[in-house]
Amino acid sequence: MTHPTSHATSADATPFDALLAGNPAHAWMGYEQGTLNFVADPTDRSCNESNAESEKPAPPLSAAALIEQYGSPLYVTNIDQVVQRGEALLAALPFPVQGYYAVKANPRRGLLEALAPRWGADVVSVGEAHAATAAGIAPSAMIYSGVGKSDTDIETAIRMGIGQINAESIEEVAAIRACAERVGRKAKVGLRVNPDVRADTLAQISTGSAGDKFGIQIEAVPMVYRALHSPENVDGLIPGGLAVHIGSQMQSLVPLEAAVMAIATLAMQLLAEGLAVPCLDLGGGLGIRYKDETPPSPTDYAAALTKGLAPARARIDAGEMAIAIEPGRWLVGPAGVLLSRVMRTKAPPMRLATGDDDLKPGDARAHAHDNDYDSDNGDAHDNDNDSDSDNDKNSGNSPSDIAPIALLDAGMHTLMRPALYDAWHHIVPVVSQTVTTPYRIAGPVCESTDTWATPRLLPATLQAGDAVAVLDAGAYGSSMANAYNLFGLPAEVGIYRGRPVLLRPHMTPEALIAEDLPLGT
Ligand code: LLP
Repeated sequence: MTHPTSHATSADATPFDALLAGNPAHAWMGYEQGTLNFVADPTDRSCNESNAESEKPAPPLSAAALIEQYGSPLYVTNIDQVVQRGEALLAALPFPVQGYYAVKANPRRGLLEALAPRWGADVVSVGEAHAATAAGIAPSAMIYSGVGKSDTDIETAIRMGIGQINAESIEEVAAIRACAERVGRKAKVGLRVNPDVRADTLAQISTGSAGDKFGIQIEAVPMVYRALHSPENVDGLIPGGLAVHIGSQMQSLVPLEAAVMAIATLAMQLLAEGLAVPCLDLGGGLGIRYKDETPPSPTDYAAALTKGLAPARARIDAGEMAIAIEPGRWLVGPAGVLLSRVMRTKAPPMRLATGDDDLKPGDARAHAHDNDYDSDNGDAHDNDNDSDSDNDKNSGNSPSDIAPIALLDAGMHTLMRPALYDAWHHIVPVVSQTVTTPYRIAGPVCESTDTWATPRLLPATLQAGDAVAVLDAGAYGSSMANAYNLFGLPAEVGIYRGRPVLLRPHMTPEALIAEDLPLGT
């Protein structure tokens, strides 16, 4: 199957065509006669190479038709693409490895069902363990690696038969032992090591430095690991090995290699002491391209892990030490988009646009002035955290202040990443046009931070009812959506075997408040 953009003549081509074509991970979408379409995975034999009439190549799906059918905002996840990316990642690794999909990236049941034949699950809560179980992933193929687990959580996990619980402290090891005793079943425990290695990523999603709340400081690990084998623990705990996860959306794998090397070296020392180290869990973290990054490929990833694992390689090849990985974002991120309608466009503040200070009461321009869009003096509307305020949102006289606003029905309650991390996501119109104008992208939530940091080019004719697609929203998009302002949660559709399937209906505001109880009952 050809890329849909190939149908467009060069005269039809828009910056949005180029934007999609510039990233191979977006090969599943493109403009067909100026309209955004999703296509079945070109390499998926099940939907493209069968002779059976019923399994003919699936037709492209139009983004506009999906919104029409399922409403807006709407998450669309190409499950076929996720499965294929998973296969590609596993195939790149030159040693036996068990993949545990990081459920937190996107926990939809339909997606987990499609991954279940090949993937275990990395879960951080009992809720995620239940989601994975419902999708057909055996608890024995799960690693429970939450940073905070209550005794009730741990007991539930042991009762469920979760394959391994990664402990984050010596105190947690003691708690797991006590829970195992109460449940009357042994628990396999891995130790999450904090190697004091800073990942090459956003500070907010970096987890492997000494001051971070995650893991056991590497110097203390031998002592804690020996304790797993102590007479008081040996009846309740089975040593599971070492785990490491230093951060997410990593753009360089040099720190990962160092972290893997640190636990592989430590594992060999523990083995030399006669302790069992059956598994090394290398976490997740492989980055993707959101803007113009050049993230590592699966081959680069394989090379970094291979180098890092060198001290333990003989054991691994002999089948005496298993290797686990826990990718999330790399599998699902580029395979998902968020579709959203423009509710309204809003003109830029006129005073800034015209430089006219002579405003009269009632003048629309005076209103803009009252709203303090133009203040860069740290007032209530200025949420800059740094000194370089002129280039950031809500600061004075920057391009973001003089651009018109495109007010979407998706906001920080639908996709938190831009508000939470100033994260970049490309945004493209569902109906493409060549003319582009910078817009500030904002959502309906009553927070100034529900506005993207940098204006985005969209058609000058953009108007209420037009739809846009936010790209690379498959990971940490719907999983972080929340109920703030009681707008409800978006519907989610999967593309499975080339066809759309509803993964979850829109959760209405009525459903969100249905469990609230009145006083005095
Ligand atoms: N394993 C552990 C122990 C983790 O904490 C994580 C992610 C993963 C695996 C999967 O990492 P991935 O392959 O997806 O990078 N909300 C943030 C990302 C937080 C990641 C938390 N841990 C974001 O939107 O960027």
